[in-house]
Amino acid sequence: MTVKVFDTYERLSRATADLIIGGIRKEGKSLICIASGHTPRGVFKCLADDANSGKLDLSNLIFVSLDEWLDIDPKDSGSCISMLRNDFFDHVKLRDDQVVLFDINAKDLQVECKRINDLIARHGGLDVMLVGIGTNGHIGMNEPGTSFDTYAHISTLAEETIVTGQKYFTTATNLSKGVTLGIRHFQEAKLPIIMANGSKKAPIIKKVIQTTTPTVEVPASVIHKTKQAYLMLDREAAHDAPIDFK
Ligand code: F6R
Repeated sequence: MTVKVFDTYERLSRATADLIIGGIRKEGKSLICIASGHTPRGVFKCLADDANSGKLDLSNLIFVSLDEWLDIDPKDSGSCISMLRNDFFDHVKLRDDQVVLFDINAKDLQVECKRINDLIARHGGLDVMLVGIGTNGHIGMNEPGTSFDTYAHISTLAEETIVTGQKYFTTATNLSKGVTLGIRHFQEAKLPIIMANGSKKAPIIKKVIQTTTPTVEVPASVIHKTKQAYLMLDREAAHDAPIDFK
């Protein structure tokens, strides 16, 4: 794993966008998984600015949404797809076939998970997988206790996720389950990236860095056995961790 720390959220976002751009295939289509939530918003702004100024060609990129809440109307502003639309998709030109989402209204969610797994497998894995991190160490909706061997699956949300997840909604919302890409996808991605910013993430970043023997109790600790992975941090998120940075 490579750890990088940046002075500001803006610099962190720019560097993460550049890392993603470096992970795009020279030929053919690239499969890029993106998280929703607050962390990647600066990255999406950089990618959209680059695309709209002609510096970045998005036409060969396929974006796969990392996860989605179950039993929440996708039109709700707190759904993962609404966040991705507001923060990214609405600001760039993409064809319909460039966005892959979980259909939470599918008749059989296991079949839906298989559809997403097969799509990623047919491509030979994800080229880039950008995830944030929960204060409990979750990545995607892979909560503590989730096997590192899982691909897409239905997840039962941890209490901490249900509580912190309220920040995305305008009114108190009953969250209990989700569908998510798995930790195996992260380990198999050509360029897996965990991004974190702000002091609220400092305790969990410290824990992840110190959990050098990965354990399912700290899902993001899988990064210690994912050699090609990057941990991208701002100074505040890195503050408590034993990392040397200037
Ligand atoms: C979002 C997701 C979550 C978030 C994480 C951090 O699609 O899967 O795991 O990445 O909870 O959330 P923020 O970025 O809002 O701090």
